[in-house]
Formats: sequence, structure tokens, C-alpha cells
Amino acid sequence: MKALTLSVVLALPLMVQAQSRAFPAADLALGEKLIRENGCAQCHARQVGGDGSALYRPAGRINTPDALRGMVEMCNTQLNLQLFPEEVEAIAAVLNRDHYRFK
Ligand code: HEC
Repeated sequence: MKALTLSVVLALPLMVQAQSRAFPAADLALGEKLIRENGCAQCHARQVGGDGSALYRPAGRINTPDALRGMVEMCNTQLNLQLFPEEVEAIAAVLNRDHYRFK
């Protein structure tokens, strides 16, 4: 029991570090789930092949955290996903962690 508590305490700073300052309040687990459930990668893969991740171009027009939020919001509207703002934020945060890496 004590060892479990200790490992949780030790893991905490790592988890905090994985959270970008650009998306401080985002729920990363929620974002991952929403990306899976909404078929983002499948459709992107049809555009660019592979696993679809080549579509994410950090050096392109999506070059700030706000641009990334805006793009996810636009896709939300266009695809009529009806995501809540915190869901858009969560998705943007996961894309940032895995692809864009804005600080
Ligand atoms: C029906 C197909 C389709 C689906 C589903 C889709 N997208 Fe896209 N997405 C696109 C296309 C096409 C582009 C490229 C648009 C362009 O370059 O003008 C794009 C571009 C993007 C970009 C910008 C990439 C860059 O760096 O320029 C982001 C971010 C993005 N999509 C996020 C998402 C997310 C998150 C989801 C799921 C919630 C999603 N998309 C679902 C078709 C789709």
C-alpha cells in the first residue's frame, strides 16, 4: 500500500510535465478517446495515406496553439460533431502533445 502511494507521488511530476502549458486544463484521456471515436485518423489517412498523421503539419498554417484550437473547432462545426468546448480543448491538447508540440 505504501509502495503504491509512493509510486503515485513519484509519477505525478511526470504527468504534469506531459501537460503542455499551452493547454493547461485539457483532459488528455478524453481527447484520445474522442479522436478514436470520431474517425479523425481514418479520414486523414484517406487524404495523405499512412496512419494519417502526415496531415498534421506543425510548420504549416497551424503554427500557434490558438490556430490548432481553431482548426479542431472548425472540424467540429464542419463535421457536425457537436463537441463541447472542453472536448475541443482536449483534442487539441492531444494533437499538440503528439504532433505540434507548442509550448
Ligand atoms: C471527413 C474527413 C475528415 C475528418 C473526419 C476529420 N478531418 Fe481533419 N482534416 C481533413 C482534411 C481534408 C484536412 C486538410 C484540410 C486542408 O489542408 O485544407 C484536415 C485537416 C485537419 C487539421 C489541420 C492539419 C494541419 O496541420 O494543417 C487538423 C488539426 C484536423 N484536421 C483535425 C481533425 C480532428 C481532431 C478530427 C476528428 C475530431 C478530424 N480532423 C476529422 C479531413 C477530415
